[in-house]
Amino acid sequence: MATFKKRRKKRIANLLHAKMHYLHENNISFANFRRLGYLMAFLGGAINAGGFFAVGYYTSHMSGAMAMAADSLYLKEWKVALTAFLMLLSFIFGAAHSSWTILWAKRQRFRSSFGLSMWLEAMYMLAFGLLATLLNKFGDEYLLWSPTLMTMCFIMGMHNTVMTILSNGVVRTTHMTGFATDIGIELSKILYYRRSDNPKLPDVQVNIPKIKLFSGVMASFVLGGFLGAWGVNLIGYQFVWPVAFVLFLIGFTSIGYDVKLRWRIWLYHRHRKQRRANAQKKYTSNQLSLNNAATTITTPLTHSEDKIIMNIGIVFGSNDGGAKSVAEYIAKNFEHQLVDAKELTADFLNAHSQLIFVASTHKCGELQADFKAKLDLLNQTDFSNKTMALVGVGGSVKHPDTFCSGLTEFFPAISAARIVGETELADCPYKYDESLAIRNGKFMGLIVDMKIDDTWKARADKWAEQVKLAFAE
Ligand SMILES: Cc1cc2nc3c(=O)[nH]c(=O)nc-3n(C[C@H](O)[C@H](O)[C@H](O)COP(=O)(O)O)c2cc1C
Repeated sequence: MATFKKRRKKRIANLLHAKMHYLHENNISFANFRRLGYLMAFLGGAINAGGFFAVGYYTSHMSGAMAMAADSLYLKEWKVALTAFLMLLSFIFGAAHSSWTILWAKRQRFRSSFGLSMWLEAMYMLAFGLLATLLNKFGDEYLLWSPTLMTMCFIMGMHNTVMTILSNGVVRTTHMTGFATDIGIELSKILYYRRSDNPKLPDVQVNIPKIKLFSGVMASFVLGGFLGAWGVNLIGYQFVWPVAFVLFLIGFTSIGYDVKLRWRIWLYHRHRKQRRANAQKKYTSNQLSLNNAATTITTPLTHSEDKIIMNIGIVFGSNDGGAKSVAEYIAKNFEHQLVDAKELTADFLNAHSQLIFVASTHKCGELQADFKAKLDLLNQTDFSNKTMALVGVGGSVKHPDTFCSGLTEFFPAISAARIVGETELADCPYKYDESLAIRNGKFMGLIVDMKIDDTWKARADKWAEQVKLAFAE
């Protein structure tokens, strides 16, 4: 019993937290995707059935609305026909609004595109509750049903869209007719001859996981509907509160992740701006004092390229040795001390004013685990007098959406450092869709995908030369 409770708790935590960081296509496991489908169908059922008691129509049921429009046109019941068309329009606008929000958020490189749509839906649910309560006071039936009914259809359109996009059209949380049809199709395959019965027949495969998934979604829809109907009859329009709360909860971690990330990036940029302003001030005052002393500088102040680069600290974080071998190769270009992130200490960081971090990316865009475990140590370190260069190791073919994105996790901690060795996008020879390692139109450092690139060593040598010069400044 205790293990069952533990497992259930873990599943809920998984669903609502860790794995939903990136509530994002390709980044959600099938198990979590299935649970999310059930939860969304449950909410869809609750809104739909609860909404029926609140506004007198099934607001997710657009086939019904269209049939109603057709019937009432035939019967010349214009008001009913208009209502049905408006319901359909509201549903379509809701779907368009949700889809637009998701597209917009993706374009802004937010990870929380789906979470954002859920939050908006939750807010509209609350607005619906408020509107229905207010209009109810007027006691005018027309005033009550028209805006609230359309809001409900709009919300239903949004609700259906999130799962439809997230599942590439496989799961539609308010479209039970489709599931019933698909289950029927799969059942027919169970009853049909298999190749094992007769090798000459074309094989007909039954998709059992599909049957399970769709039956689960349908059961969740009914259960949600039952609770929704019960809730509305028990507490009236207040039933929107728990529904909105669950939607807020589902979207919370992905939105929280984005807020945290953007806040850190903002802090980083603010710090850089301040540093630049201070450097400019210092430069101007130096110029003034030089002018006052009527000094003519005949030889330009050069950075000594011959300066021996001493004491470069190179730290690598590597799971299977990829980032380690890149670090070892780069290290040949410097007088250096090389250390595994596992062994990284405050003393090592304090002993080096010039550091190179070489890290691979794992787990859907996350920094390699040993380095991640040292982020607290990095946060406690003063990087303001240090010069840093970064190297990201990743896989552009299998992970084009999160290519070398783990590098970005260094930034909050090392934002005070002088960062050198940024590279142009054009110098990166790989195909990828998205990378959080890109800042201000450049990669934060050298980017390497060893598995598909024979030229990475030549690129690393060239990069090391540039970094050497930058370290010497
Ligand atoms: C489970 C797993 C997840 C990965 N996720 C990413 C990713 O999100 N982004 C990326 O660029 N590379 C990703 N990669 C590719 C690794 O970063 C790449 O294979 C790298 O060479 C591994 O280096 P390492 O052996 O030093 O850890 C992933 C690899 C694995 C095995």
